[in-house]
Order: sequence, then C-alpha cells, then structure tokens
Amino acid sequence: MKKYLIIANWKMTPNSSKEATELLSATASAAKKIRNVKVVVCPPFVYLRLFSKNSKVGLGGQDVFWEEAGSYTGEISAKMLKSVGVQYVIIGHSERRRLGETNEMINRKIKQAFKYGLKVIFCVGEFERDESENYLQFVKEEVIKGLEQISAKLFKNLIVAYEPIWAISSAKKFGKGFFHPDTPENAFQMSTYIKRVIVSAFSKNAGSVPILYGGSVDAKNAADFLVKGNVDGLLVGRTSWNAKEFGELLKNVNKI
Ligand code: 13P
Repeated sequence: MKKYLIIANWKMTPNSSKEATELLSATASAAKKIRNVKVVVCPPFVYLRLFSKNSKVGLGGQDVFWEEAGSYTGEISAKMLKSVGVQYVIIGHSERRRLGETNEMINRKIKQAFKYGLKVIFCVGEFERDESENYLQFVKEEVIKGLEQISAKLFKNLIVAYEPIWAISSAKKFGKGFFHPDTPENAFQMSTYIKRVIVSAFSKNAGSVPILYGGSVDAKNAADFLVKGNVDGLLVGRTSWNAKEFGELLKNVNKI
C-alpha cells in the first residue's frame, strides 16, 4: 500500500517545552491510528531532544549548517542533528530564503546533510504565478542550483517539496485569513514538471524522487492534493500546530 509522507513543520512554535511535549504526544497518538501515512515532525531545534524516545513519528530538523564544526555562532551541524536522532531535515524553506539564504548556500547544506545520511526535504517554489510563465524557469533554477554537483546516487535520500510562496499561510497575500492554497491540478502540473527537470538535468533514474506539496494544506484539502494532485505527500505548517486539526487531516488521508 502506498504510504504518503506527511511532514509537520512546526516553524517557530510552540512557545514552551511543556506545550511541545503535549503537541508531540497528541500528534503521535493521532499518527498511530493511520495506516497509509508516515508522519515526520520538524520542531524547533530546542525541542528535538523531547522526541528522542518517540518512535511513532519520524523526526526532522528545520535547517542545518554546511560546515562540520567550529566558530559558527547560532548554527547547528548535521552531526549534531544525527546525534539526537534526527532522520530528516528541511533545507531551503522560503522563510529562510527570505532571510538571505541563496541557492548556493542551500546546495552546500544539502551536500552536508547527505554526507551524514539525513533525508533532505528540499523546498522550492515561486513568489508568484505570472502569466508569461517565468515561474517555471524560476523553479527549474532553484532545483538545478540546489542539486548542483551532487551525485544522483544520493537522491535516494532526496524529497522535494513544492511550496508556492504565495500559497503559504504566512503570505497573507489576499488579506482574507491565513489559508489560500494552490489547486490540486496545479500541484499535479508542478510536481510532474519538477520530476521532469530532475530527470533531464541529473539522471533518468531520478523519477522516483518523492515530490510533496506545501502551502495552506488543511484537513479539508489534504486528500485532494494527494489524489488529484498525485503528490507523494504534504508539507504542513499551521495545521500541524493544532493536534486536533492535524489529527482530522490524517483521518481524511486515511480514507483514501
Ligand atoms: P502553511 O501550511 O502554514 O501554509 O505552511 C506551509 C509551509 O511553509 C510548510 O513548510
């Protein structure tokens, strides 16, 4: 049976270790009942140790630095992540790109994460979907530059998350609440496009790299993205911060 990968990106929430423990245990018990989903939680670094004993969900970091160790104030290494049981790491999230992260920095981070056997959730996505379709070239460039000079043999640990920036709940673009998702039909087109870019730029065997969709995913639209959008999983922000809503999302996916 196909197992969808559902990644909970907690971003910079919750505010305390107590709340993180509660959210984790509620998330893990919701995940335990779902047969067709692998859930991975990516909490802020300071909460990673709370997860060490929880095997119901996978554990991911939200970023990693490209150097091994040394004088890099505020950074976290791939080796450190491994040492606390982390298996996955998000790299190149648009909220980090907005703070100045470039394709070249992302490429170095991906190389370092692969070196330590971490599974990389590599985020790409355009600012806007313009009519002349420049966004296709933009996403293509992000994909190619992010993966430059990386052996396609390492792509067994690669997951690409297509997150159109305008669709992320933090974008508040349309001024009407948080959620303004893409459509499953567009997610389908973009995931097919990204797969094609990877195959033609890197390796004809890279067609099996899983592609996720992220951006205003909630309990109502999750199953549609997976079925009509034909993606391999979802990268979920805001909805994953509330165990009840995230549990509803998982239940709906379980009905597929
Ligand atoms: P939202 O689900 O809050 O739109 O966030 C998407 C995201 O950025 C996940 O990485």
